[in-house]
Amino acid sequence: MSSETTKKFPPDFFWGAATASYQVEGGIENTDWAKAAQEGRVPICGKACDHFNRFEADFDIAKSLGHNAHRFSIEWARIEPEEGKFNAEAIEHYRAVLSALNARGIKPFVTLWHFTLPLWFSEKGGFEQKNSPQIFARYCKFVVSQLDDVCTDYVTLNEPEIFSSLGWIRGAWPPFKRFTLIDFSHDVSKEHRQTESTARKSIGSFFVFLKVLKNLAKAHNLAYVEIKAVSPDVLISSLKHVHVFDSNRNIFNKLKAHIANYFLNHYFLKKLSGTVDYYSLNYYRYTKFGDTAVYPVSDMGWKLNPENIYEALMYLAQFKKPIIISEAGIADAKDVYRADYITKQVLGIWRAIQDGADVRGFMYWSLLDNYEWDLGFEKRFGLVEIDYTTLERKIRPSAYIYKRICEQNAVQ
Ligand code: BGC
Repeated sequence: MSSETTKKFPPDFFWGAATASYQVEGGIENTDWAKAAQEGRVPICGKACDHFNRFEADFDIAKSLGHNAHRFSIEWARIEPEEGKFNAEAIEHYRAVLSALNARGIKPFVTLWHFTLPLWFSEKGGFEQKNSPQIFARYCKFVVSQLDDVCTDYVTLNEPEIFSSLGWIRGAWPPFKRFTLIDFSHDVSKEHRQTESTARKSIGSFFVFLKVLKNLAKAHNLAYVEIKAVSPDVLISSLKHVHVFDSNRNIFNKLKAHIANYFLNHYFLKKLSGTVDYYSLNYYRYTKFGDTAVYPVSDMGWKLNPENIYEALMYLAQFKKPIIISEAGIADAKDVYRADYITKQVLGIWRAIQDGADVRGFMYWSLLDNYEWDLGFEKRFGLVEIDYTTLERKIRPSAYIYKRICEQNAVQ
């Protein structure tokens, strides 16, 4: 590698990949998503990648790919299958998962909640309930108090804005409630149309969306305080999905970008009350209203703008805290774009670091192909391909390009 073109990263930078419990573990039947699957509203998740039983072998693969960090989530419904009753065996399982990572020199980052709700909690109204922040904080406090000797870094909530907008504005995800006026928007993409068409529409859904977002922010704030009371030394992160909204010079497009940024980027962050040790960034998309340029698209139909992670990072950098990229990746079953996508993305990250963003790590989404929510198993984000019949794992060529970046702590 010529030193002139080599872009070095700070020492101790974390390089890895991410997963989420429901999407990879298999065998989780007591959640709102499992119920929606039984009702035929979303695809069945079933055994998924059977990562619950195969995590050791999967971490061996991550290690062989040069990863020194890994993000995964704990399934709330396993830990608290009935309200207020915590399951010791489930804690022991996640202790084994964390120990397996530590033993391989892979630093764990745990997400306490990644979209799926225990059935008892969703049947009581989920995050629409007034006391949902207290219920969530009690769960978080319990988990961290049990695992703080094997893991020091926790994310509370995965993508509160995506969860609430797909649940209460689009109606594509449980509880399938749709804001009537969204039908008039020209910019909604088509990928969720099957579930959206069965949603219950109302004008009031918009106000419930705002209430849910508020409760999620309260849940984060309270979880932060309660966790710190029992485990003062752990670090707690607020995870922000930043969809970068930009526009051309047209005044209406500027207004659209402003409204989208307000509700999908600023609204949640404004409600956090100093309860952030560092930010986690999930970045997938950049939308420029009025842009007529044609971009290649991923298997999700999303335009490929990997380098615009730069704007997402500079947005978070204004809060003057460290940042870990907790997710960024591409659905690309044939693996034609992924290597270039990762390389351009890493260059965008490097540029943001030069411009002052305190970025400490990057977790590609995802280590394994997995259950892509209402879209089932067809979309392939993995560095590792899964054969869902045999559960065989096969490393994709792009994973080796990423491996070189991880091992050299640099990109060209
Ligand atoms: C979510 C993941 C999802 C990924 C790709 C993120 O919004 O956290 O669960 O699989 O995007 O759509």
